[in-house]
Amino acid sequence: MKETNQYIMDLFQNRYTCKGYDPKKKVSDEDFLTIIEAGRLSPSSMGYEPWKFIQLKNKDVLEEIRPYAWGAQASIDGASHILLILARMPEDMKPNSEYIYYIQNDIQNYPKDKFQGRIDRYTSFQKEDFDLNTDRALFDWTSKQTYIPLANMLTVAAMLGVDSTPIEGFHREKLHEIFIKHKVYDPKHFKISNILALGYKNREHRGKTRRPIEEVFEVFE
Ligand SMILES: Cc1cc2nc3c(=O)[nH]c(=O)nc-3n(C[C@H](O)[C@H](O)[C@H](O)COP(=O)(O)O)c2cc1C
Repeated sequence: MKETNQYIMDLFQNRYTCKGYDPKKKVSDEDFLTIIEAGRLSPSSMGYEPWKFIQLKNKDVLEEIRPYAWGAQASIDGASHILLILARMPEDMKPNSEYIYYIQNDIQNYPKDKFQGRIDRYTSFQKEDFDLNTDRALFDWTSKQTYIPLANMLTVAAMLGVDSTPIEGFHREKLHEIFIKHKVYDPKHFKISNILALGYKNREHRGKTRRPIEEVFEVFE
């Protein structure tokens, strides 16, 4: 096997979900920023980047979410960094929102003559192709896109030798309420989607288990 292929195989074999962190070990700023960049540069539908990342350092807020975040308890106890991955609210993701205008105009510098055509395509995609006709459907679509930066950040963390935990083991509405109360984010624009913990393990972890390749992949000719 080529060196790069072997590297990728080893990387994915060795990335695992950390269930216990050493609170004394901290991820360096350089590594953390590289992980964040992997999230920021992730792809999204039409490039609308429907996410935001917040490093939650506030111990009081972390303690307050603990009872409602069963999947994050070990991470709250010892992880070096806790990163909230937020999804954009439905109002922002509707075709004629200020946010969509801002992305297409200010970020993507979309040519004026193609601007409205793209909005029309986005409108029919939402209405007809993907049936995103309720706020719930729209939020779920946005939220699922946030799992792309999550996955990329998990992989880059593993490349850097940083242990990690992807987390959705929490009561979303409860956490949302707590974050609003403490003004962690503006609920007009964002809601918690998932959480990423980063740090260094305090013990060995279980070996990887996966279904065999023949069961997961097939070719249809
Ligand atoms: C979207 C998602 C949410 C997850 N939520 C949690 C969680 O709340 N707490 C936890 O300890 N692990 C969580 N996991 C980790 C999975 O249990 C783990 O990825 C799976 O068992 C495979 O193990 P591995 O990551 O070590 O290969 C989550 C994983 C994903 C992808």
